[in-house]
Amino acid sequence: MIADLVLNNAKAYIKGEILECNIAIEEGKFIKIGRQPQMPNADQKINLQGMLTLPGLIDAHVHLRDEKKSYKEDFISGTSAAAAGGFTTVLDMPNNQPLTNSVETLKNRLEIVKKRAIVNVGLFSEFPEKLSELPQISSENPIGFKLFMGNQVGGLNIDDDQALKEGFQTVGNINTVIAIHAEDKNQIMLNEQKLKQGKHDSIKDFLLVHTEQAEVQAIKRVLKASKDTNAQLHFCHVTSQQGLEAIKEEKKIGKKITCEVTPNHLMLSAADVTHYGMMAIMLPPLRDRNHQEALIRGVNQGDIDIIGSDHAPHTIEEKSANSVWEVKAGVPGLETTLPLMLTLVKKKWLPFQRLVELLAEKPAEIYGLTSKGKLEQGKDADITVIDYNQQWKIAASKFKSKAKFSLFDNWEVIGKPTKTFVNGNLVMDNNEIVANPGSGKIIRKEVTFKE
Ligand code: DOR
Ligand code: ZN
Ligand code: ZN
Repeated sequence: MIADLVLNNAKAYIKGEILECNIAIEEGKFIKIGRQPQMPNADQKINLQGMLTLPGLIDAHVHLRDEKKSYKEDFISGTSAAAAGGFTTVLDMPNNQPLTNSVETLKNRLEIVKKRAIVNVGLFSEFPEKLSELPQISSENPIGFKLFMGNQVGGLNIDDDQALKEGFQTVGNINTVIAIHAEDKNQIMLNEQKLKQGKHDSIKDFLLVHTEQAEVQAIKRVLKASKDTNAQLHFCHVTSQQGLEAIKEEKKIGKKITCEVTPNHLMLSAADVTHYGMMAIMLPPLRDRNHQEALIRGVNQGDIDIIGSDHAPHTIEEKSANSVWEVKAGVPGLETTLPLMLTLVKKKWLPFQRLVELLAEKPAEIYGLTSKGKLEQGKDADITVIDYNQQWKIAASKFKSKAKFSLFDNWEVIGKPTKTFVNGNLVMDNNEIVANPGSGKIIRKEVTFKE
């Protein structure tokens, strides 16, 4: 037998241990992982020189934009940023222009991404207006349905608890995850009315509008509406202690619920917003220290299931508007997430095993990516190679993302992704993109219909 590629001299993360081994790849899959004598011959060999070799990392929360928002990011720049950041699969959010929430918009987007992706990409859909369209949309295999609760984005009426219940029931029956942005629209509107009347326009005012209570309220409403349905809920970017508590309680009674945190909310707090100014505006916003500490505990204890970057690129102009109410919320994250998390590991804030769970194993499990998340014979040959000891400084001006700014610019970090393999192909080597657009695959979730 002759393999396509053998990677020699890897220190691979396998079943919780780091093993010195070689990895043989054939037609984009792992065919053998083991010691030298068992390795097949190969057309190509790469010596990994004892570098730490992880299952390809998955970022389950990115906004790749493209289409009419390609001035902020497109599939080529966004998936290049992913590859440079050590991610082999990214799941893309639907708040695009046009909004991704129909067979037509999903089909178009799939056509475009197919030609441009450097890493694997799965697409989310928002809800359509008519729930009867959900089965047809599902046959385009979106990776999940996204629900924005902070403002009306998709077609499901977020003011109507009964409509939410029906939406959850229908998606539950087609076995697809519902990812939720939990902020309560009405609370935000009430807070806005109070503040905007007095012409308040500071960063502090922004935080007074997007309160923790608004997050907790949305989480509780969603949990209540999903009662007695089959819905598999995933709460995106949880930021508050009470929000996390509510999710934890619901998990205890055996519900299919998972949640996520961003590195922004783990590493920074509201005090930093004052320092960074408008650039640090994101939704939900950065919170006070006590919440940050609760999130770190949640990540350590396993109450938080995954890290999602919420990579949300905007232009510098959009980030520096005059009024806080005009500034676009969100920051890029694909090229900073892994080094930040590795640095937390080095500082002993996080066990290494948790890092792999949070960034590979669990996202694969939640989104049903059964051939990903582990270095194992038969699985897709997605690999993230890391120089574990390299100390370096984050430099936003060098990002592959079009959004060349970062809250972590100039931060000293330890650990750097040096090679990224997608389906057995080297796509990033020492910060260079070495694959052509279109080399990433589109992830299509198989759906099963229940009556
Ligand atoms: O900060 C954010 N930016 N929060 C969101 O929910 C949306 C995102 C974006 O698309 O820019
Ligand atoms: Zn969000
Ligand atoms: Zn987002």
